Amino acid sequence: MPRSKIAGIGMYVPKNVFTNNDLLKFMDTTDEWIQERTGIKERRYADRTEETTTTMGVEAATIAIERAGITPQEIDFIVFATICPDYYFPGCGVLLQRAMKMKEIGALDVRNQCSGFIYALSVADQFIKSGMYKNILVVASEKHSFGLDFSTRGRNITVIFGDGAGAVVLQPTEDVNRGILSTHLHSDGNNAEILAMYNPGTHANHWVKEKKLADFDEAEMGEMFMSHSMIDNAQNFPNMDGPAVFKVAVEKFPAVIMEALTANNLQTTDLKLMIPHQANLRISQFVQRKLKLNDDQVYNNIQKFGNTTAASIPIALCEAWEQGKIKEGDLVCLAAFGSGFTWASALLKW
Ligand code: UT7
Repeated sequence: MPRSKIAGIGMYVPKNVFTNNDLLKFMDTTDEWIQERTGIKERRYADRTEETTTTMGVEAATIAIERAGITPQEIDFIVFATICPDYYFPGCGVLLQRAMKMKEIGALDVRNQCSGFIYALSVADQFIKSGMYKNILVVASEKHSFGLDFSTRGRNITVIFGDGAGAVVLQPTEDVNRGILSTHLHSDGNNAEILAMYNPGTHANHWVKEKKLADFDEAEMGEMFMSHSMIDNAQNFPNMDGPAVFKVAVEKFPAVIMEALTANNLQTTDLKLMIPHQANLRISQFVQRKLKLNDDQVYNNIQKFGNTTAASIPIALCEAWEQGKIKEGDLVCLAAFGSGFTWASALLKW
């Protein structure tokens, strides 16, 4: 059975830099608070009108495809991970297929939040190993800046997130010293609501529950999914109990990294680089200390880009590779934790 290798990688971040101080215009926060609690100094925000989650994905994908030495028409499957889709439906996969003038190939959308890229990579890996496809494009892209609460009410979340995209092309390899060794996916929905965006959604909001369906008038029937009252009550923004998420994250990150190493009879000392989802620099540092990894073994760039959810791992992986921190044969571990909760890891030989 062949393994999957990353044949090409690309990233894209918008030009517009938004510093911590730029946020002061909207909310009661400080550069000191943000840096001390998260390590973030600045993030990028997409152009309001010209850039979408899909267009950023296309930018990253174009580079990845070019580096793989193929054309968009040779891609035979797309997996697109995002929590900021251009439309509620259809997903970004088909929009990218159209924008890149690809053949009428399959396009799968993955909604696994911070773990989205590893979930997408794992799906693509199975299709390559089974021999079904030869060139799979895995894209992760997020345009968070369009859907955040920029008032003081939303400051615990808004200061964290940034926009950007990353992409890889997966191809089969018979080289036993290369490729994805294993992926490990997990979920626990018991805490689904503590890091979530509830609306728009088909769960019954409180005002829907208060009435019998027969008593609804025409306007109310049309407002169950998205209503003025939801917007008036700021129910259209992400919610997070940050400390509760932090507590579980620092437990699951090391566990899922060790799961990947143990499954392959490897140790932390074998790792050339560990690339954690860029959730919070303090989480990455905690994980580094817990696993006794040295500074050269962990890659962080949250300081420049904030938390770009699904896109953070491919962006960091691409940057690390471009900086020469990953060479052929190096052992790299990707690990993520986030909303769901979902968490995941992938171990690969570059
Ligand atoms: O990638 C998705 C997964 N997400 C995560 O992994 C996030 C995990 N959690 C975190 O990263 C941290 O919990 C945060 C960075 C979100 C928050 O840091 P924290 O140290 O846990 O702060 P906190 O939420 O406990 O809030 C401490 C104080 C509060 O004020 P009081 O009640 O002590 O007076 C907050 O209101 O800090 C206040 N606060 C802020 N102050 C200034 C919250 N956000 C801000 C802000 N600026 N942006």
